[in-house]
Order: sequence, then C-alpha cells, then structure tokens
Amino acid sequence: MCGIVGYVGKNEKKEILLDGLQELEYRGYDSAGIAIIEDKQLKNFKAVGKLQNLRDKTKDYASEGFGVSIGHTRWATHGKPTELNAHPHMGAYSFVVHNGIIENYQELKDELQAQGVKFLSQTDTETIVHLFEKNHNINNNPWKAFQDTISKLEGAYATLLITEADEETIFFAKNGSPMLIGFNGSDIYFASSDTPIIGKATEVYYLEDGEFGYAKNGEIKLFDANGAKSFSKQPLATDKAMAQKDGYRFFMEKEIYEQAQVMNDTMMGRLLDDKIDFEELDENLFENITNIKICACGTSYHSALASSYLFERISKIPCQVEIASEFRYKEPLLRDDTLFITISQSGETADTLEALKMAKKAGLKSLSICNVDNSSIVRESDAAVLTRAGIEKGVASTKAFATQTMVLWMLAIYVAQAKNSIDSELLKKELDAMRHTPKALVVDEKLHTKMTRLSKRYLHGHGFFFIGRDIFFPLALEGALKLKEISYLHAEGYPSGEMKHGPIALADAELFTVALMPKSLHYDKIKSNVEELCARDATVLAISPDSFDLADDFVKTKYDAHPMLEFFEMMVVTQLLALEISVRLGNDVDMPRNLAKSVTVE
Ligand code: AGP
Repeated sequence: MCGIVGYVGKNEKKEILLDGLQELEYRGYDSAGIAIIEDKQLKNFKAVGKLQNLRDKTKDYASEGFGVSIGHTRWATHGKPTELNAHPHMGAYSFVVHNGIIENYQELKDELQAQGVKFLSQTDTETIVHLFEKNHNINNNPWKAFQDTISKLEGAYATLLITEADEETIFFAKNGSPMLIGFNGSDIYFASSDTPIIGKATEVYYLEDGEFGYAKNGEIKLFDANGAKSFSKQPLATDKAMAQKDGYRFFMEKEIYEQAQVMNDTMMGRLLDDKIDFEELDENLFENITNIKICACGTSYHSALASSYLFERISKIPCQVEIASEFRYKEPLLRDDTLFITISQSGETADTLEALKMAKKAGLKSLSICNVDNSSIVRESDAAVLTRAGIEKGVASTKAFATQTMVLWMLAIYVAQAKNSIDSELLKKELDAMRHTPKALVVDEKLHTKMTRLSKRYLHGHGFFFIGRDIFFPLALEGALKLKEISYLHAEGYPSGEMKHGPIALADAELFTVALMPKSLHYDKIKSNVEELCARDATVLAISPDSFDLADDFVKTKYDAHPMLEFFEMMVVTQLLALEISVRLGNDVDMPRNLAKSVTVE
C-alpha cells in the first residue's frame, strides 16, 4: 500500500527519503519516486518496480544544504503501475504525494481540463497539484492556494506538497489516511507510519483527520476547520532491532519462529494465577452488553471467526462475525447493547476503520484488537487491547494472527468472568492451557525439515482444500489463505462436514487435502469426513496427534490436551507448509505479488 516520507532540513535529503521508503517496502508497492527543492532547484526522480531501481537512477545525485523533500511508494489504485503514474505528481512548479483516494477527482479533473490543464497521469492524485497551481495563479499566495485546494477534496487523503512558489515549506493535510510528523531539533519529518523516522526523529505528533498546515523554519503551523491549533509531541520509539531479519531467510520465517516468544508478551500481566485481567479495559465497557459483533478483513477475520466459537461456548454471549467490506454496505441493523469489536494487525485497514466509524455513529461501544498503538483504528475506538506481536514485516501475517487469537481467547474468558458464566474448574483448565501455548508454538527443527521435504510433493495439482471443524475451520481458512498468498496456488478452506455437499466432486489424486484432525475436538467426525475423501482417491496430508493410516502424508502433532493448544501447533504446521512451498516455487515470500501489508483503500 502507498507510503509517504517527507523531510525539511539541512541533511542529505535523498538518503533520508530512500531509507524511509525502504522501511515502508513491506507494505507492498509497485513504483516509487522522490522530489526535492534546494537552492531553488527542483529535482524529481521516479522508477517502476523495486526501490533499487530508484536508487540506481539517483546514484549520481546528492542533495546538500537546506531544502524540502517528499517521497512516495505507490500501490496502484487509479491507473497502471507506470512511471507517469508514480508519485510525486508534477504541475508546472510544484510536486505532490498522496495516500488514499480522492473520490471527486474526476469532477475536479474535468473542470481543470476544461480550463486547459494538461494531465500526464491517470491518477486521482494529479488533480491536487493542478488545483493548487490554478488557485495559486489566481491569488499568488501558496498557503491560501493550498487551503483552497484541500477544501475541495472529497475522500481519504494524506498529502504533502512542495512548490517553487515557496521553496522552504512543506504543506500537509490529513483526512482518513495516516500521517505523522517527526521532530529532531529544527529537522522535521513526515511519514505515513513511524518506522521510516525511527532513529531520525526523537518526537512525534500523529495528525488527526481534518488537520492540515505547513512546516517552515523548523516549525509546524497546524490548523483544522476551527482555525490554528496547538499540539503536543510525544516521544518516538527507538527500537528497530525487532524489525530486522536476525539471520532468517525471510521476515515471514523469522516471524513464525518468534511466535512462541511474542505470545509471552501478549499474555504478560493479563494471564494471572486465577483469572484474566486487562488493565487497559474499563469494566463498564461490558455493562448492558448482551451481544458481540466483530468486523475484520483477511487473516484478522479468521481470528475473529475462531473467537466466535469461544465467545459463545465460554462467555455464553451471542457473537456474530462479519467481513468489514461487506458490513459497510449491507445497511446493518445495529443495537446499542452490542459491543463492536474490530480486529486489525495494522490498525489502518480502510474497510475495518469505516465499519468502526459506522458502529460508533450508531451509538455502539467499540473495542479494537490491534498490533499498532496509535494507529487509526486504535485511536478511533473507545478501548483497545494491543496484541504485542512486535512489528510484522512479512505481508503474509503469522504472529499477528497467533497473538490476535490469543487476545480473543483471553477476552472470551474475561467476559465469562464478568458475566459469571464460567465455573472454577473450566477457568482453571483454560488458564492452564494458555500457560502451555508458547510451548505449542515452538518450531521444532525436525518438523521444519519435514515440511521442507514434504513441500516438494505439493507444487502442482489442481488445488488444495484445507479442512477442519469448529475452531479448526477458521484455521483451515487461514491455512488456505497463507498458501495462496505466497505460493499463488489455488487453495480453499472448508468446514470438513460441508465437503459432501458439493466440493467432494473435485476429489481425485490431484486434489490435495490438508486435514486438520485434532484429537481433543470432534476427532471421529472429522476422521469420517477425511475417509470419504480418501475413498475418492484425494491426496491427503493429515495433521493430527493420532496416526491416520489412510493419509498419503502425515504430520504428527504433540499437544493434544486442549483444542487451543492443538490449534496453535497446527497453525505453525500450515504456516511452514506455505513458506516451504513458496520457497520451492521461487516466489517472493515477504512481498508476494499484488498484495500490500496495509490496505488503506477500500
Ligand atoms: C494476511 O496474511 C493478509 N495479508 C491480509 O489478509 C490481512 O490480514 C488483511 O488485509 C487485514 O489487515 P489488518 O489485520 O492489518 O487489518
């Protein structure tokens, strides 16, 4: 997804921009560009593909002395990934970068074109720079021209603009897309998330929707619809070490191995001797709540789906789960006795954020489960529980899913405690199982070697079915999503009992079935479903603590004392399977094609 970096100061600007954009690479992009003004000279470079292409193009350029600069990684929304469509977009004497979508761009573009303005790109963003210059040509006042420009924009934007008409200033505006300002003495940084400026800025201000202003002379002037406003900076995190690969081949691999450790962080201070406690939650949050609705996308949706079984079974509270992009337009009937939970790794997913805004508007209490503090979803929610997974760089989510699921499991117990719907025996059993979870997540080297070996048999065929029952059905969906994201092979997750209602028609030796066969939950039921597939010659990879003679391949799991322990152990097996198939196919594991880490457009 698009990323923004900006800098105003005396340091080498090209390197600050390129290094910053590198930090945003994991979000996914298809082109990149930078624009710099120093000594009244405007320079602009763009390249399609990896950032290295932009580095190559700029290798003979260095920017010394005071100046202003903006950079961008683009993930195509309007128009193909070409150099002309890459940001920064250019007018006659100004440049702009933008994240989000200008919904009324066509109308604005038509108006400008009717006045003779020539457009070079197919993007919505280019309208911003032409509108600015049109306004400036009328009033000869860059600040007023910028204000007039943003007052005309509809939709989501985080934007930076530089212009030769005021060559010491960066103009900025934020509405619906993330943007922050970093400070270090008189140096000022802008970015769409904090990773590009960690180690450079010491303090940060996270812009709110509707805020705009400019950076000049080492200062920020901030405004919103009510006029000039003050703001407070906060210290910026300094630890980037967790975001490095630590000797693993891929971030995804490192993140799979990290799960056992980060799970301890997720549980710390929350899993107590005899209860679950979330000190960040106010007990009033659950007052008068008789129902839970969860909205999320992708992997986060899968953790939500798994938790719906737990909320109903343990907390005895009705729980519905919806895909955020569907929820937004279905005209949902919302009741104020519903707690609205959103789940998001990034905290910036546009569909989830909008679903949250809708629920808030309808008067629902909201809780977010998120990995990124201060993200838009966290700030928008009444309450938040952080998953504490650390920065996740692999586009294919792993440790974020594991920690989301753990938070939701703990939350199900927390709600059960609040509602007195759990007896002490069950509570003890759940807490004991939780304490063993990190062990179930440890990646056994022998298992990894086995998955590497097995993966060579699963590189062809006409598709994969991941099947499971109960909480293992969402895990099957997640296993299939992981595989398709990074292997580009077709994979589907199915409830195993549903196979006979249609999908079993596909069964033959070239249909690969990954069967999740936990011992502690409905083993006999799923066993007969898998037998039905074996009888039709499907190729079966069974994952289970109990041996299964009919399987073509078998992975034996160990932790069968509790369904959640089996869940987490099997999750690791499916993650390794996807990873090793992707490696054998020679794919880009961390940045799979067409995908973005943070999906900030609808
Ligand atoms: C996970 O592997 C995916 N890349 C994707 O489905 C992701 O979970 C989804 O886009 C939601 O993102 P979020 O958790 O940041 O909201």
